[in-house]
Amino acid sequence: MSAETDPVKVMKQEVGKAAAERVKSGTIVGLGTGSTTAYAIQYLGERLKSGELKDIVGIPTSFQAEVLAKEYGIPLTTLDAVDHIDIAIDGADEVDPQKNMIKGGGAAHTREKVVDALADRFIVVVDSGKLVDRLGSTFKLPVEVIPMAIAPVMRAIEKLGGKPELRMGVKKAGPVITDQGNMVVDVKFDSIDNPADLEKTINNIPGVLENGLFVGVADVVLVGEVKDGQPRVYEI
Ligand code: A5P
Repeated sequence: MSAETDPVKVMKQEVGKAAAERVKSGTIVGLGTGSTTAYAIQYLGERLKSGELKDIVGIPTSFQAEVLAKEYGIPLTTLDAVDHIDIAIDGADEVDPQKNMIKGGGAAHTREKVVDALADRFIVVVDSGKLVDRLGSTFKLPVEVIPMAIAPVMRAIEKLGGKPELRMGVKKAGPVITDQGNMVVDVKFDSIDNPADLEKTINNIPGVLENGLFVGVADVVLVGEVKDGQPRVYEI
């Protein structure tokens, strides 16, 4: 890996590498989405290339993960072809002390939840800036919605006390379209007191496909931080 000086990138790189080191030969690996997991995918590819790691297959959580896995030579499979996932590595946008999370900053939370929840061991990779005391304090909650239901879903979310906004594309006119062909509403809540209840309540609104609350899914959270100029990774 190239020498990096930006502290956030260093944290992401180190934590991605630490997660990839936990993958064993002969396993089925869920490949998450985002800039931190991208380093894990890169390092998995390097371990395969060097021969240190053998016979892994990946299940991607997004087009991004699929493209990266192909670039780094990781063979891929689908959920139709396997009956379990040994380990998944994925990032998060916020993590609370109970290891509950908000995900979906990359609009990939629907597939991520399928893959991460199926894994025998789900390792979350974050930099220390993602740790919060209470979910929703820094990040809006992403909700994937089928396009024809955007207006009623936004009204239903307002009734729950949320402030929804349709996520707009960057370098693309109009809304973000997910890998499934849907749209994303980002919702600001003043306070998410009960993530488990809110996850179910939002998913119960007709037209919602999935929201970015991941409650009780993470087994291990690896946190990258830079202290006194030195990167280190610790486990929650
Ligand atoms: C993708 O939809 C997200 O759930 C990502 O896993 C999350 O946004 C973390 O991304 P970064 O590692 O780029 O911060």
